[in-house]
Amino acid sequence: MILDGQATRSVRRTADGAGICILDQRQLPWEVRWVELRSARDAAVAIAEMWTRGAPMIGAVGAYGLAMALAEAADDAALDAAYAMLVETRPTAINLQWALDQVAAAVRPLAPVDRAGAALARADAICDEDVALCRSIGEHGLDLLRTLHAQHPGRPLNILTHCNAGWLATVDYGTATAPIYLAHDAGLPVHVWVDETRPRNQGALLTAFELKNHGVPHTLIADNAGGLLMARGQVDAVIVGTDRVAANGDVCNKIGTYLKALAAHDTAVPFYVALPYTTFDAATPSGDAITIEDRSPEELTRVTGATDHGLETVRLTQSPAYNPAFDVTPARLVTGYITERGVLDRLSTPA
Ligand code: MRU
Repeated sequence: MILDGQATRSVRRTADGAGICILDQRQLPWEVRWVELRSARDAAVAIAEMWTRGAPMIGAVGAYGLAMALAEAADDAALDAAYAMLVETRPTAINLQWALDQVAAAVRPLAPVDRAGAALARADAICDEDVALCRSIGEHGLDLLRTLHAQHPGRPLNILTHCNAGWLATVDYGTATAPIYLAHDAGLPVHVWVDETRPRNQGALLTAFELKNHGVPHTLIADNAGGLLMARGQVDAVIVGTDRVAANGDVCNKIGTYLKALAAHDTAVPFYVALPYTTFDAATPSGDAITIEDRSPEELTRVTGATDHGLETVRLTQSPAYNPAFDVTPARLVTGYITERGVLDRLSTPA
C-alpha cells in the first residue's frame, strides 16, 4: 500500500514488538493517525468500534489480540476467555473466527510459558500470508481486467466497487482493489466508480482515500447511482470483497452489495467477488445461515464530517432507524470469484 508516497502495511508490530500499530480508520481521510494497541481489550475495542475493519484486517488484529492476552496470562482459562471476548466483537466476517482458531490451535498444545511467543509468531504469519494471498488475487484479477479491457480497447476500463475491500481492510493490496492496483501499475487505464457506502461511508472515506494515494483515477457516486450507470454501459465490471462466502457460493458483504448484484445481473454487467480462502466458510451451507450484524441506528441517524475545528457529528433525522450492516448476494448472481488460485466460475446454476 502507498501512504504519503511510502510503501507500508496497514498493521505492524510496535517498536518493542509487544503491541501493534493500526491506522485509526475513524479519522480517515482527514487525518492519518496510527494508534497502538497493547492488550486484548484494546484489540477488542478497536474491532468492535471500527477503528479498524474489513474481514482480513479484523482477523489479523484479533490474532494479535489473542497473543497479547497470552502475554498477560497463558493458562487454558485465559486463552478461552480472550478468545470469547474477541470472537464476539464482530459476528459476520469469518476471518476473525478463522484467525482466532489458527492462533488457539497453534498454542493449545504448548506449555503456558511458550504460548505468547508462539501466538505472536502465528499472528505474524497470518499477516504475511494475507499479503501473499491478496497479491495473488491481484495477479489473477489483472489477467481478468486485461481480458475485459481488450473488449473495449481505446477507453478506460470502468470498475464499480462497494464499501472498502482495499488495503485498509487487509494487511496490504486489498482483495477487490488488488487487481485494480496491479492493473494501474501495469499501465492499464482503469477508472473506479466508488460507491459512497452508507451509512458509514467506507467508500467515500476509505476507498477513495486509498485510490487517491495510489493515483488511480476514480469518481465517487451515491449508492443509488450504480444501476443507472450500469444500464447506460458506463460500468464494465463490478468487483466487491466479502466477509464470508458460504459453501454454496452465497456472498455476504456490506449492505447494498445485493442491490448492485441485482442491477449487474439485469444489465449483463459481470459481477465478481474477490476473496482469499480465509473468507470461505465451508461449514456454513448457505447465506441464510450467516449472522448479519445489526449496528447502532446512530450510524444512520447521524453523520460525521470535517469542519475547520475538526470532526463534527450532526443529527440527520429524528426518526427511529434500523441498521443491518451486511446482506447476502445469492451465488446465482455472481459471475466469478477472484481467488488466490485463479478466477472461479459461479458455484451454482444460474436462475
Ligand atoms: O463493516 P466493515 O467496514 O468491516 O465491512 C467491510 C466489508 O464489507 C468489506 O467489503 C469486506 O470485509 C471485504 S474486506 C477485504
